[in-house]
Amino acid sequence: MKTIYFDNNATTQVDPLVFEAMVPFFKDLYGNPSSMHFKGGEVASHLRLARQRLADLLGATPEEIIYTSCGTESDNAALWTALRTQPDKKHLITSRVEHSAIVNNVSLLRRLGYRVSEIGVDGLGRLDM
Ligand SMILES: Cc1ncc(COP(=O)(O)O)c(C=O)c1O
Repeated sequence: MKTIYFDNNATTQVDPLVFEAMVPFFKDLYGNPSSMHFKGGEVASHLRLARQRLADLLGATPEEIIYTSCGTESDNAALWTALRTQPDKKHLITSRVEHSAIVNNVSLLRRLGYRVSEIGVDGLGRLDM
């Protein structure tokens, strides 16, 4: 039976080129890039290069590229950084189809006194402005 996988936005098959590029890091280059020892230093240089290449691709500076460990951490970093850097802004606009990592934050922010507006989506999942 042929299987069709419809959840690629949650997790997807690794592209063979990515897999190939990552093999050295699974086999030999496994040091912690934050560590001072040689095994960490060699990984740190690859990480710097990757950060530079990604920045070039996005038209950003390397300092603007922040790696996170997961989607939830990314959500929290983006949301809480925005709130902390703009403390005068107390109105949050979100959609009705957010991941629970966002929904839980929105519930907390409501309790903290933020005004929240929710935008619905149409039958195709597009924001219904
Ligand atoms: C917007 C959003 N936040 C958080 C997550 C959860 O990601 P993780 O399990 O990597 O924390 C997902 C997963 O699909 C997501 O789409």
